[in-house]
Formats: sequence, structure tokens, C-alpha cells
Amino acid sequence: MSSSKVQASPSTPKPQQVGVPAIRDRKGGEPLVMVTAYDAPSARAAIAAGVDLILVGDSLGMVVLGYDDTLKVTMEDMVSHTSAVARTTPPQLVVADMPWTSYHQGAFNAVANAARLVGAGAGAVKLEGGTKRLEVLRAILDAEIPVMGHLGLTPQSVHAMGGFRVQGRRPDQAKLLVEDAIAISESGCFAIVLEGIPEGVAAEITEAVPVPTIGIGAGRACDGQVLVFHDIVGLGGTRAPRFARRYGDLEALAGQAVAQWAADVRGERYPSANETYL
Ligand code: KIV
Repeated sequence: MSSSKVQASPSTPKPQQVGVPAIRDRKGGEPLVMVTAYDAPSARAAIAAGVDLILVGDSLGMVVLGYDDTLKVTMEDMVSHTSAVARTTPPQLVVADMPWTSYHQGAFNAVANAARLVGAGAGAVKLEGGTKRLEVLRAILDAEIPVMGHLGLTPQSVHAMGGFRVQGRRPDQAKLLVEDAIAISESGCFAIVLEGIPEGVAAEITEAVPVPTIGIGAGRACDGQVLVFHDIVGLGGTRAPRFARRYGDLEALAGQAVAQWAADVRGERYPSANETYL
């Protein structure tokens, strides 16, 4: 069992949380840094690194639950993983993804699901889509829950897109993306993730909206960047996308560590006297 404490004791003051207005005010300033975390160890790494935002992304379905896409991620999964991240009491704003179908069945249902994520410790929720999501977006905002938007390659639309494909290459598609970004920012989204779109389109959107854009596979013009934790540290398993820059190889290190322990067990070098209760 890990020796590091996850839960703060009741007497430990909770660090001051960075709020939504502070994130919104970063438009055009120092680039925002957001990273995914799905559990306490990855959240502690994000806290130690001093990122600006932690995203409990539904990418957890592909990265840690072994699914081919994000569509099988449930509200229960998101509540459980958001709670695990929140128990590390991050000073960062924790944004939780609304999973597929949790906001597609009417505003009442969407608000109830967003509220469950806030109850689990999220300070904001993220949902995919533009103009067609305006009704639920406004309803969630009316419940005083901040919303981050997500446009471009929206993984929950994998079937509609015909695969995980870069979006907005055609001028008509790019125009729609700009319109969607303006519509959701005017409705009150405090930031927008732009995923898998050409750099020029991301630049146009970033110019057109008053809120920060946070890019992933969207080039250099965005107001910030987000990556999946497992891609950064090399725990991805599968082939990482072109934009994912890897800074470590934890998967190889973990394999080596377990292999060394297995060799010690088989060679009767583990456990030692020091690792034994007498
Ligand atoms: O689920 C996720 O991790 C995301 C990021 C890729 C932005 O939505």
C-alpha cells in the first residue's frame, strides 16, 4: 500500500481553489495548462507539477478502462474517478467530463447529472458539441455550474464522424466550428477545448471568442494546451497520436520493476528479514 496520504485530515485547511473567473481571465495571457487525471496518483502528479486545471476526462474509458472509445463510460465511472481526484484536495479547478448520453436526454436530466459530478468534487463540467447543445448548456449554467465546451474532434461523436478524424479541414466545416465556438461562448462557457482541428481554424476561433481556447491537436494559437496524463508519462499502451509529446516511459519502468521483484521472489531474495514481521 502506498505510504502517501490521499485524504486531508479534517484539521488540514483546504488550499485556496483557483476559480473559473481566474481561468477566464487568462485569455490571451500565459498559456493555460490542463492535464487529465483519473485517480489519486495522477492527480498528485498534476498538483505537484502546478498545472492550471485538472480534467477528469472520459478518455479514462480508453486510457484506463480498456474500451475502444469513450462511449461506454458511465456516470458512475465519472463520479467514482472524479471523487478519487477530488480527495487529493487539488488547489486546481477540477473539470469533469459529462459522459455520452448524460446530457442528451433533456435539460432536467443533464442538470441532475452535472450536479452529481459537482457533488463528487468537480468545480466545472465539460460537454461536447456546439449550437445543438445550447439548451442543456444554458440549463446547467442556470444551475450555477460552470461549463467548459469541447469542439472539433469530439470523441463521443466517433460514429457520426466516421472515426477519430481531424475536423474542420473543409471551409464549410471550419465556418461551422467558428459559429459553434461563438455560440457556446456567448451562452456562457468559460473556456473551450479545441481538439483535432487545423491550426489555422483554431487560430480563427481563438481570435473570435472572448474565452480561453485550450487545444489538443489544434496547434500553437490556442490560449492553452491539454494532454492526457498517460500520454505524457508513457503509460499509454497503444500508439500515441501525433500531437502527444511523451516525457517518460513509465510503462517500461513499471514492467522492469515488477520483473525485478518477480526475480527476487523466485530467487528467494524477497522478502528479507526487514520486510518481515517477527
Ligand atoms: O476526455 C478527455 O481526456 C478530453 C481531452 C482529450 C480534452 O476530453
